Amino acid sequence: MKALILSGGRGTRLRPLTYTGAKQLVPVANQPILWYGIEAIAAAGITDIGIIISPETGPEIQAQTGDGSRFGVRITYILQPRPEGLAHAVKIAQPFLGDAPFIMYLGDNLIEDSLGQFLSKFSQQDLDALILLRAVPNPTAFGVARVDEQGCLLQLVEKPAVPPSNLALVGVYFFNSTIHQAIAQIQPSARGELEITDAIQVLIDRQASVQAMQLSGWWLDTGKKDDLLEANRTILDSKLTPRIETAVDARSQILGRVRIGPGTKLIDCCVRGPAIIGANCHLENCFIGPHSSIADGVTIIGTDIDDSVILQNAKIINIPQRIVDSVIGQRACLAIAPRRPKALRFMVGDDCQIDLML
Ligand code: DAU
Repeated sequence: MKALILSGGRGTRLRPLTYTGAKQLVPVANQPILWYGIEAIAAAGITDIGIIISPETGPEIQAQTGDGSRFGVRITYILQPRPEGLAHAVKIAQPFLGDAPFIMYLGDNLIEDSLGQFLSKFSQQDLDALILLRAVPNPTAFGVARVDEQGCLLQLVEKPAVPPSNLALVGVYFFNSTIHQAIAQIQPSARGELEITDAIQVLIDRQASVQAMQLSGWWLDTGKKDDLLEANRTILDSKLTPRIETAVDARSQILGRVRIGPGTKLIDCCVRGPAIIGANCHLENCFIGPHSSIADGVTIIGTDIDDSVILQNAKIINIPQRIVDSVIGQRACLAIAPRRPKALRFMVGDDCQIDLML
């Protein structure tokens, strides 16, 4: 069994963050989204992982993620010259995959369920494909499944205007080598991509053994800012182990589950967990509230923050209102200005400089 993680694509929905970086490297609880997928695959006992990368963001993904040894796996990077669809990614990965069955994992998805139970069903029943479904309120944003009363899969449609159900396709799939013949039969869709949903439909039409299972735990597709914040909340709630690796001054208070990295200075601060603060940050006279993730090298002075993700080396200085539900990009700088607005909600891209008016 092998695994193929799709980490190419353009990442337009997380712009402006992804103008300068890969969306799969955007951190959730201070760890790149992509790494959660690698960890889940490694936990299922799969050690041979191919990662699809694009020419634009591939080098950064490779540099940060390495050869897989930190996860106990072997990673092979596979360059997809253009984002021509999920099925196209499988096509160009064929030399890596050979005839092996494989898990295909979309690098911007996070699921709570461990992969083991699905893998057992897929292997024990010798299926051609196993897909995962989850009921969602906005099915038009996903691939959608039509199933019969017994839950048998009848049809898959990609981002339908009129969805046949509320069951979205989760970005984790199990395939054996029959998927390659199915992909060879499909044509690009109206949006110009080779769709994996069309290839699975070929298998369904051929009466191959394709089954669906519904997820019981949470599923997060971190395509947009609010998804990213929700993923951050969920991971901090469920996975954060507290650890304080720095000295905290006597006037600072740490409450609840909090992790703080080495070299970080806390002066006269209150941190209420679940929250994570990286290494080498400078935090002075501020309140860091629940569900905040502060990356390495961040400076926050005289500001209160809740429910937000702050990326590396950002600076936030003396903002009088509490910052909530915000994503602040790498090296962004927010500073006080002379007039005071009532509330502040941000999606600030990398390298931005924002001066607020009082
Ligand atoms: O998240 C679940 C959804 O993922 C499914 O419900 C849809 O059926 C499926 O098509 C997919 O839809 P998205 O629009 O979310 O796919 P996206 O273009 O965001 O790509 C998903 C991942 O695959 C992302 O990490 C980028 C990567 N990718 C994408 C394309 C199109 C590639 O590596 N190569 C590609 O050519």
